[in-house]
Amino acid sequence: MASPPLYFFLLFLSVVSAVKLPLSAFSHHTDQLVPTDPYLHLRRLADSSIARAQQLKQPSSIKPNEDALSASSAAVVKSPLTPKSYGGYSVSLSFGTPPQTIHFVFDTGSSLVWFPCTSRYICSGCNFPGLDPTRIPRFVPKASSSSRVIGCQNPKCKFLFGPNVKCRGCNPNAHNCTVACPPYILQYGLGSTAGILLSEKLNFADLTVPDFVVGCSILSTRTPTGIAGFGRGRESLPSQMNLKRFSYCLVSRRFDDTKVSTDLDLDTGSGHKTGSKTPGLSYTPFRNNPNVSNSAFLEYYYLNLRRIFVGRKRVKIPYKFLAPRPDGNGGSIVDSGSTFTFMERPVFELVAEEFAAQMSNYSREVKLEKITGLGPCFSISGKGSMTVPELTFEFKGGAKMELPLSNYFTLVGGVDNVCLTVVSDNTVSSTGGRSGPAIILGSFQQQNYHVEYDLENDRFGFAKKKCSP
Ligand SMILES: *[C@@H]1O[C@H](CO)[C@@H](O)[C@H](O)[C@H]1NC(C)=O
Ligand SMILES: *[C@@H]1O[C@H](CO)[C@@H](O)[C@H](O)[C@H]1NC(C)=O
Ligand SMILES: *[C@@H]1O[C@H](CO)[C@@H](O)[C@H](O)[C@H]1NC(C)=O
Repeated sequence: MASPPLYFFLLFLSVVSAVKLPLSAFSHHTDQLVPTDPYLHLRRLADSSIARAQQLKQPSSIKPNEDALSASSAAVVKSPLTPKSYGGYSVSLSFGTPPQTIHFVFDTGSSLVWFPCTSRYICSGCNFPGLDPTRIPRFVPKASSSSRVIGCQNPKCKFLFGPNVKCRGCNPNAHNCTVACPPYILQYGLGSTAGILLSEKLNFADLTVPDFVVGCSILSTRTPTGIAGFGRGRESLPSQMNLKRFSYCLVSRRFDDTKVSTDLDLDTGSGHKTGSKTPGLSYTPFRNNPNVSNSAFLEYYYLNLRRIFVGRKRVKIPYKFLAPRPDGNGGSIVDSGSTFTFMERPVFELVAEEFAAQMSNYSREVKLEKITGLGPCFSISGKGSMTVPELTFEFKGGAKMELPLSNYFTLVGGVDNVCLTVVSDNTVSSTGGRSGPAIILGSFQQQNYHVEYDLENDRFGFAKKKCSP
């Protein structure tokens, strides 16, 4: 018999390659779920992550990319980012004259910026933990001298409604129509919002952006606050401000409403040389979705995810899931508006099975998986330490995201059980196939990373970093 080939040894090595971690690796998480029902809260976050994935996968609205906007002046402007109990991160922005400061969900998976608006704003199904739906802060256009309703013939109306927007009662040849841009309705995971577009002043400490298109929502469902869209659409904040790059560092979350914040840096371009890399960051190019007729897919930040490792073992994910196919479906995106990372069922099963295989010393807690919507879950009761394989995402160009334990496992119910913080679902589209991105990298997996969206050079940069001040 011939001697075993080299890969045999590599395979053998892979079996023993795992990180052994004291339970204190979770220390900052141990108090995270004490006050409320821990299972219920995780369940909610898992459900909202799945609903979010379903919406990203089958978006309804059509949004074209057109019309250039003038560049702004100053270099880097900052805005605080804060983790919230509803699962997202909140960014505060200041609109109007005089300025009114409003909190938004920071969302790289959608593009419109909108706020709860007018004293008549209604939010139904908005009983989120730590939030009183009758007291959601709103923007009051009447109190701002710079608020203007966007007209139907204003080119910015097309940001949302496309080049063929219907302006009822307007003579298309006379450009003096006073009809407003039509109301919008947007879907977000389980929630939705409706309102009209305003032109407003967006104020930062050293920079004012005039004529910023912002949604004035008067009716929403299941959305805790307004949403600041940082996607690739024309109406997004980075597009309207013509940002060269933006970056953030998400503080480790406990699903509470801490006051701790970090900076969201918005780089308008005069602060660095074109093409320069931020020291210490690993980069991978963004990827375009080949289906240019599906404008929703053009809003997402697709990554070139090449490999997923559990320990040293490469999980053999078919390429059709990693990269978008010619019809635009499949592929991996990064999304700050999803809490837990989503993987389509076939991908999820491969990853979950590999964790289960390498963690066979621990008893599997299937019941807990059903309750929380996360999985696989394991009992670590009575163990002083646990051995967990590392979870690594490798991108085109070799950039590797070797996740810290607390970015992919969470303690559940005190310190007796842990669950992988990845979700999946069982839906297939009406045509029987799976639509939209197959893998969505959520904010939970981005904690304690310095993350940069380099729009100018069309690439994604990241590095591990302790984000808490
Ligand atoms: C719009 O302009 C046309 C001529 O171009 C004029 O006849 C019409 O009265 C104007 N309408 C308004 C509402 O100003
Ligand atoms: C692009 O996406 C749209 C909408 O999802 C779909 O109808 C169309 O068939 C896709 N185009 C191609 C070339 O597959
Ligand atoms: C798992 O079991 C194997 C074999 O029984 C043992 O060598 C290894 O140390 C165990 N690992 C842990 C973390 O208990």
